[in-house]
Amino acid sequence: MVGLLVTASNPAPAQTEPAALIDSHRCMFCHTTDSPFLAPSFQQIAERYRKVPNARLMLENKLRLGGKAHWGDTAMPLPADRGGPITPEDTHTLIVWVLSQ
Ligand code: HEC
Repeated sequence: MVGLLVTASNPAPAQTEPAALIDSHRCMFCHTTDSPFLAPSFQQIAERYRKVPNARLMLENKLRLGGKAHWGDTAMPLPADRGGPITPEDTHTLIVWVLSQ
């Protein structure tokens, strides 16, 4: 019975926020989860790319290597100008989380 109640109150397994990564790469310096700030919110980004094939890979590459702006004139700064170099594994974790917002 207890198990049933717990299951019922947690219908969707939420993607755990990779807080340490977000922190060390300063994502929240420009982004927020739900309101546009210096950059589009992670919810806007998730909404825009939810149905786009290969968006995850494109975004992972862009986050790690840079690329042209998709939202305005300002492209996202390169990792060196954020928290420092970022590994493919860490970009993967971050983008999976962003797209789950
Ligand atoms: C210095 C400010 C800044 C920081 C720090 C920053 N971003 Fe961004 N980000 C931007 C801006 C500006 C854009 C919009 C760029 C564009 O038009 O494509 C953006 C766009 C994005 C996009 C969408 C890219 C696209 O092609 O649509 C993703 C995903 C993203 N950021 C994730 C992150 C993550 C994850 C971090 C932390 C590792 C991060 N950002 C840190 C400013 C920042």
